[in-house]
Amino acid sequence: RRPLEARVVRVAFGAAFLFLGLGGLGGLIQSLHRTGYFQFIGEITDGNYYTVLTSHGVFMVLFFTIFFLMGAFTWALTRSLDRDLNNPRMTKYWITSMCVGAFLTSLAIIGGFTNAIPIEANVLYTMYAPLQAHPLYYIGLTLFVTGTWVAGYDWISTYWGWRSDNPDERIPLMAFMVLTTMLMWYILTVGIAIEVLFFLIPWSLGLVNEINPTLTRTLFWYFGHAVVYFWLLPAYLLWYAVLPKLSGGRLFSDPLARVVFILFLILGTPVGIHHQYLDPGIPEGFKFVAMTNTMFLLLPSLLTAFTVVASIEHGGRQRGGKGYLGWLRTLPWKNPAFSGMALAGIMFAAGGFSGMINAGMNINYLVHNTIWVPGHFHLTVGTASALTFMAGAYWLVPQITGKNLAAKKLAAVQPFLWFVGMTFMSNAMHRAGLFGMPRRTSEPMYDAFSYDPAIGTVGEVNSQIALGGVILTVSLGIFLYVIVRTWFGGEKVESPVDAELPPAMSGPEHSPRVLDNLKLWVGVAVLLVILAYTVPIAYIATDGLWSGSETYPVVVDALDTLEVLL
Ligand code: HEM
Repeated sequence: RRPLEARVVRVAFGAAFLFLGLGGLGGLIQSLHRTGYFQFIGEITDGNYYTVLTSHGVFMVLFFTIFFLMGAFTWALTRSLDRDLNNPRMTKYWITSMCVGAFLTSLAIIGGFTNAIPIEANVLYTMYAPLQAHPLYYIGLTLFVTGTWVAGYDWISTYWGWRSDNPDERIPLMAFMVLTTMLMWYILTVGIAIEVLFFLIPWSLGLVNEINPTLTRTLFWYFGHAVVYFWLLPAYLLWYAVLPKLSGGRLFSDPLARVVFILFLILGTPVGIHHQYLDPGIPEGFKFVAMTNTMFLLLPSLLTAFTVVASIEHGGRQRGGKGYLGWLRTLPWKNPAFSGMALAGIMFAAGGFSGMINAGMNINYLVHNTIWVPGHFHLTVGTASALTFMAGAYWLVPQITGKNLAAKKLAAVQPFLWFVGMTFMSNAMHRAGLFGMPRRTSEPMYDAFSYDPAIGTVGEVNSQIALGGVILTVSLGIFLYVIVRTWFGGEKVESPVDAELPPAMSGPEHSPRVLDNLKLWVGVAVLLVILAYTVPIAYIATDGLWSGSETYPVVVDALDTLEVLL
């Protein structure tokens, strides 16, 4: 019904799935390379492990996730407000800016694979100074992020238009989710914007010679933790808005869903220093405050677990399920849109537990910078978000293309394959992390290193990482095959899926109006950020805004860092 919006959703999803495919290739190469099964990176290209790792990290967590979010939010907002986006020129601008930005950054990364082009960006998605990328890498990211800012404004101004036509209505739930997520995004991108515009770009262009690594890392993590909620909240939107319907029931509680999104808005950002527990130059007290704030974030996740499971149980019972657990059997496990989201939710629970270990200041020392950490976030962003997005695509792509889902039997096994592959890979990564095996490396300097596993052997965990990587890649291949066949093959049909979304059991009339007071929640969020960050940033900046690298160990590994701390 809305040709421009449908086109934008198609472009955003197309870009998301392209980056998912490219990133998945990198994931396979890494899992075979770092386990020693198949090492060919240096032989067929001029790049190295870090070139692949940069492409995998950036393509997966910046481009795949955020392009998908742009498509899903455009769909969710226009559908829930039942109106077109406000300003077609603005809409065309932001989607173009994001595509051009992603292209330039990808060019800088891919340039690292051949010495024929004098461009490279082996800086990983965290882009820590003093690692330096070609300016194109940062300029592309700037265009990409500013595109998202304009998109947010496009959506907010569409909401304002709706509000002036409907002064007394409650904000429809999906629009509420889009707005709170974008408000959080504006707050959290302040960190990366300052880092890239004031420090990394001038430094990569040679305009300044020095940079303060502690400051730029702190600015990065101000953004870098909260961004995980930007990856997660589109999955939450699908779990709250679509999953109950797919299971055959209705959302349990609209007010609880609103509370959860507000909690992420206000608590999501003042926690980033928990990624820097081992960074020298940041007093322990600031780290302790970040840890305390982090623990509060368990609340919205536990609320979500309760609300979503209650909604699914309702669905199972509507389908005739009986007893304590009998309703589980009646759920539509053969529908990949349902099974993908449900399995993603189960893995998210496991990711939550390993996340609690990461968040604890003392026990974090055990797993810091080990491969435990990728083990953790492949359960969260790598499954809770990624698998939910794939499942969402099985439901949304037929709607935006007007075609029936192709290869349904293959699609039905795909989420289960992902679940099995990730169980192997992530579990083995967690265990290898407990041996002390570092993340982000497979370079020769670690060859002579011996680990002392309490249970199992290094060979055994490595084989599971490699096996998991292969199964995941097969699963990803199936997903892309099904989507491409749906998109480019098959006949147009009138209504490929039942797209009605039933109202919640406890609707917006039961939620206090104060929940819709977005100005209030943004005010609280900004206040918490000021309280958590002003003193640490002021303290770190006393080293000098554009200097301080002399006091910072260039090789940030655990031993060096401990030496500095002691
Ligand atoms: C890192 C495998 C899917 C995000 C890694 C690593 C491996 C891997 C082996 C390297 C660990 C290290 O050396 O430190 C795979 C495989 C996948 C897959 C086989 C599926 C085919 C995903 C997805 C996401 C993701 C879906 C997110 C949406 C990341 C990130 C890193 C990473 C952010 C860290 C990069 C860095 O340290 O800079 N992955 N992965 N991966 N993966 Fe994946």
